[in-house]
Amino acid sequence: MNYHFLIVDGRHGNDLSSKLRDALPDYDLTILVTADCQEALHLASTHHPSVIFFDMCLPGINGIDFLSAAKKIDHAVSVIMTTSCGNVSDTIETIKHGAFDYLTMPTNIDLFKQVVRKALECNILNRRIRYLHSTKDLDRSEHGEDVMIGSSPKMMEIWKLIGKIADNDATILIEGESGTGKELLAKAIYSHSSRNTKPFLAINCAAMPEALLESELFGHEKGAFTDAHQRRIGKFEHCNGGTILLDEISEMSMISQSKLLRVLENQEFERVGGNTTIKTNVRVIASTNANLMDAVLKKTFRLDLYHRLKGVTINLPPLRERPEDITILIDLFCRIFSVRYGKRIQGVSARASDYLHKCPWNGNIRELKNAIGSAVATAQGEILRLEDILQGKPEMPDPRMNVMEPNEYYAYFVKLLEPRVEAYHPDSIGNLYQQVCQGLEKASIELALKKNGNNQVLTAKMLGISRNTLRNRIDRYSLEQGSEQRSLT
Ligand SMILES: Nc1ncnc2c1ncn2[C@@H]1O[C@H](COP(=O)(O)OP(=O)(O)OP(=O)(O)O)[C@@H](O)[C@H]1O
Ligand SMILES: [Mg+2]
Repeated sequence: MNYHFLIVDGRHGNDLSSKLRDALPDYDLTILVTADCQEALHLASTHHPSVIFFDMCLPGINGIDFLSAAKKIDHAVSVIMTTSCGNVSDTIETIKHGAFDYLTMPTNIDLFKQVVRKALECNILNRRIRYLHSTKDLDRSEHGEDVMIGSSPKMMEIWKLIGKIADNDATILIEGESGTGKELLAKAIYSHSSRNTKPFLAINCAAMPEALLESELFGHEKGAFTDAHQRRIGKFEHCNGGTILLDEISEMSMISQSKLLRVLENQEFERVGGNTTIKTNVRVIASTNANLMDAVLKKTFRLDLYHRLKGVTINLPPLRERPEDITILIDLFCRIFSVRYGKRIQGVSARASDYLHKCPWNGNIRELKNAIGSAVATAQGEILRLEDILQGKPEMPDPRMNVMEPNEYYAYFVKLLEPRVEAYHPDSIGNLYQQVCQGLEKASIELALKKNGNNQVLTAKMLGISRNTLRNRIDRYSLEQGSEQRSLT
């Protein structure tokens, strides 16, 4: 996908342009540069840039007016204010009016990269996410990157709940295993709320050290700690009027937890190292794949915060508990990756579908999405075959791993047997079924006997078969030979 950047700057335009290309080498960028504010607004309406850099020292228009005009054209655009005049207080004002961040020029290259990446990601997040029951509801022109889909009874309950809560300011806790769509759901709630013209910011509480997280969330004053060369605005200030997703909330430090509680109760906080109380108006959505109550019991999570957060709790079920959704998810992901890889995949073969429905999907929707993604990338035809899917996924479970889920056995055997089945000539008469069943039966019984010191009672129990059946199989496969101490108890 191509992303447009607009630089409104007379002096640093070309320099910023080359820095941008260095900062985002893995993105396809179109960079527009102008020093004229009117032309900039025209370019904003014709090219819909993801990010705009605006030089606060340009004559003719003040930063806040430019910002409001640009936001009127596209509320989701991330505007970064730049200044070389040394006056950062005006710049901070623009942040209160919805600018994404500010940079003092000439800027430190690491900070530049960090801010630019976040601005682009934030813009991508700000695209509206919709929830749908079926891919039939998608327009032909859409390919569904912004869609959260589900028609299983459990997801239908969640859609109903979103309808009720999206538009009030209730704090929401989303619980669910990794890959179940917690972040996507948070974006769906946001985009269906009346706050959807204001920013949505997501922050992963596990991804940074405690002190950094605190300053990231609440900002800091100049001199608050060794590297605090300048005052910085935190996410709660940035996001005024908007919605913040605190991902992996169980990892938040106790200090940040008490500050967060205060924000939730009174919508106020202080920057790190500051005394001024700052008022903010932010909706908080928290998500976790850990059990928060366990963290409370371990005394790493505040009980009062837990109660405050769990007012509205949404439990996103793992994919294995909503198998009805697998078909439409496959359909959606085939569309998404067909567009991304320039393919025309129409669907999956019956064998591939059967396999995809039987996989355990411990990594949930993310794992299914990745599996379809790699299959689409490598597929030759217009229908994904089982072979296309198996190329990338699932990883062959290591047979030495003690517990395999039932469906993992299935995946394992498919991979094991597929080349043998393929090698058969369509007219040939074979006895593969018998060979496989007998081999499997003999191996399981022999191993279980060995494991249980040849105790038949324990072996039958472990295998889940009766003792009569066990005796019968021992005879059938002549498993007695070589046994030294078979117990008859
Ligand atoms: N219902 C859905 N419809 C379409 N895509 C989905 C759905 N649920 C999840 N996805 C996709 O699956 C991937 C994982 O989703 P997401 O990042 O929201 O999961 P998560 O629960 O936040 O995971 P983690 O706990 O690992 O952060 C994303 O690419 C997302 O777009
Ligand atoms: Mg997540």
